[in-house]
Amino acid sequence: MLGLAVTTDEKWVEAALADVDALLVDHAHCEMKAASNAMSLIVRHGDRPELVSALTLLAEEELAHFRRVHELLVARGRALGPPPIDPYAAELRKVAAPKGKSVSLVDRLLVGALIEARSCERFKLLAERCPDLELRAFYAELLACEAGHYRTFVDLAIAEGARDGIDAKAVRVRLSELSTAEATIVAQLSGGAVETRATVHG
Ligand SMILES: [Fe+2]
Repeated sequence: MLGLAVTTDEKWVEAALADVDALLVDHAHCEMKAASNAMSLIVRHGDRPELVSALTLLAEEELAHFRRVHELLVARGRALGPPPIDPYAAELRKVAAPKGKSVSLVDRLLVGALIEARSCERFKLLAERCPDLELRAFYAELLACEAGHYRTFVDLAIAEGARDGIDAKAVRVRLSELSTAEATIVAQLSGGAVETRATVHG
């Protein structure tokens, strides 16, 4: 699904549904981080009108999702609180920029695509399996947005690659390499030796 090399382990579904409040706290932070990441890319790459336009729309959507998840938390008597530890995104960024090297814009966009793809895959599981019907409908709506965000990031990576003389096929090969690394990280975090947590990315 959406370029992912491995599907989510059942253990993640069990952990997520065992503590939906914790999942929603993490989800809210994920939406805010996604909006912040898009805004950071806009500020750094203001010379690329296509990127600025696409990521402005994306950031608006992520922030709107943050607001809605936060409203769900408030309705459940929960506060946002500090962001949970997010080893998934940290490990994925390390793959794209090993040993402190700076990450290329193509890789940063592809990492963004994979994060969206994994969110999309997991929101689909929540839309199918969550006992709370309101949350099911919410996640069914969101998974379509995440699929759109995945395509936005891949399209921007291909456009950026073209500027650097990298053809679309090579960008897709790089996406596949990063996807293989993402699968290893997911396997370690969900279903591996580490206890699976009620967070969006395990
Ligand atoms: Fe997204």
